[in-house]
Amino acid sequence: MTLTFRARIDGRQIRCEIGTDHALAAPVFCFSLMAAPAVAAGGTLVRRVAGYAEVALPDLAAGSVHEVVLEHADPRYHPRNRAWLPLGPYLRVGRQCLPLPPGTDLGLRDGDGPPATPLAPDRLPLVPQPTEWTSSGEMLAFSALAPVAALEGVDQLALRLGLVPLLAAGATALAVSEDATLGPEGYRLLIAPEGLSVAIGGAAGLHNAGITLLTLRETTGGKLPCGTLTDSPRFGWRGQHLDCARHFFGIDFILRLLDLMALMKMNRFHWHLSDDESFRLEVETQPLLWKRTAFRGEGELVPGVFGGGIRAGGSYSRADVERVLARARALHIEVLPEIEVPAHSHGMVKALPGLRDPGDNGEEASVQGYIDNIVNPAMPATWEVLQPLTEEVAARFPFGMLHLGADEAPHGAWDGSPAVAALKAREGLVSSDDVQGWMLARLAGRLVAKGIRVAAWEEAAKGVQGGIGNAALLFSWTGQGPGVEAARRGHDVVMCPAQNAYFDLAHTDDPDDWGASWAGFVPLEKTVAWDPVPKGAEDIAPRIVGVQACFWGEFTTEDDQAEGMIAPRILGIATKGWEPAGRTDGAAIRALAGTYGPILDRIGWKWNRGA
Ligand code: ACM
Repeated sequence: MTLTFRARIDGRQIRCEIGTDHALAAPVFCFSLMAAPAVAAGGTLVRRVAGYAEVALPDLAAGSVHEVVLEHADPRYHPRNRAWLPLGPYLRVGRQCLPLPPGTDLGLRDGDGPPATPLAPDRLPLVPQPTEWTSSGEMLAFSALAPVAALEGVDQLALRLGLVPLLAAGATALAVSEDATLGPEGYRLLIAPEGLSVAIGGAAGLHNAGITLLTLRETTGGKLPCGTLTDSPRFGWRGQHLDCARHFFGIDFILRLLDLMALMKMNRFHWHLSDDESFRLEVETQPLLWKRTAFRGEGELVPGVFGGGIRAGGSYSRADVERVLARARALHIEVLPEIEVPAHSHGMVKALPGLRDPGDNGEEASVQGYIDNIVNPAMPATWEVLQPLTEEVAARFPFGMLHLGADEAPHGAWDGSPAVAALKAREGLVSSDDVQGWMLARLAGRLVAKGIRVAAWEEAAKGVQGGIGNAALLFSWTGQGPGVEAARRGHDVVMCPAQNAYFDLAHTDDPDDWGASWAGFVPLEKTVAWDPVPKGAEDIAPRIVGVQACFWGEFTTEDDQAEGMIAPRILGIATKGWEPAGRTDGAAIRALAGTYGPILDRIGWKWNRGA
């Protein structure tokens, strides 16, 4: 049997053409959109779970092509580009599931891109740029360093990337000395015609100097410019987040991402392990949680939301986590695991009994369109599950910090729950924010008592009793304002404003592009067009501990689709995390992207050449 499928954007609508060379009786068209779908013509909506829908079609005759016209149920959404077309499409006919080919080509298209502009003469072909660089005008031919044990991590990185080793017997010697004034990650590298020497503030400083030498060797073709390079980061937190709940990224992709981060001197990996669609970590305290939600699709607890199709998913074993941790350790990267509560928990609520109030008659919907994606803090089972679960997850990761989520609770959450009504009366709470803040403060307090630091998205600061408290690290994502406010209330903050740092947003408004758009479009230039300490927030500058890029996986169906979304924009976020304010502007980062292009090509990482 041959089935064909094509989808295209037509104004606010999506036109789908399903062709078959066999007669099909009462087929059901299953697929997912970025947000809850509606049907304008060609079928009848029979089931919807968030962006996933099942549409009953009329009988299809052999040789026919049938048109289904889709819209988004919420008129605030309309299709912007190919990522908004149906993902994971298939037909259910009786008990059989028949995959449909993708209705469009998936992922970013390669483009030639604008011609690379030359680097300004005062710049090194290096991201991030060093804090200070004084050129002597000479040159050193460099291919490798004589072995330095502490640089084996960088040497292994070079080998994995398919580059010439950094360390080789009899090669250029590197004299190492210590200078605590440089700070734990800082270093001062002298490149002279006679050879190399480095002063370091700590082990991470030597690692960073090694990354600089490896990079300059690649970007200069082995002809290092001579001079003095004094370097240390503006921020201690230079992060990359990866949503492995919506799309199950293989461990090999995660390891490659850590390698790419290390090349940019980024040092925090935020591993988003749970969301509405799945719980990915093979935990011992709640085996049913991951066993029941690791895969989604036909016959699973969670249907094929966000491109799940007939079946997609996976879970991370203890051995998988150990591989990620070993790689991170070798690259001076810390790993922050995230377990999402109380919202973004549709899969958790479905998999485990007792996390919802059976008397809750509320129909509040999440932004993604779920009507049951929040655990209930008035249920004893919620605490019986969450306390051991969060403790186990935190204990698996040596960083000693756990991210608890806390974003995007549906408006009016728990309003229909008699148990929460009683909780509110008892604890002096009024709004959903108050209830979430109370719950997070309680959960965080128990973790802090065990020596675990907690982190959460910006919403965790809300609530009449001050929200999560407990010296939580908060992530400001809807913009920078919530981060500034949280910092004024005593929280340390990581800035990851979607408008500049969300790599799942499309680069441009081109309908042929690929990505989300709720916070606008993020061309490379926008990743540097901001200051993590915005104007007027100088008073809380010490509370802003860093920056982070985020990649959400709603429309990712294959690991490599993320590559061109992450690169070259990761150059901009690495720059923001390291360099003093205002050092690199849009034109300069564009020129540096041109310089890094050949390296990305050499290491086999796809990058968006066009936008
Ligand atoms: C988020 O993007 N919902 C943190």
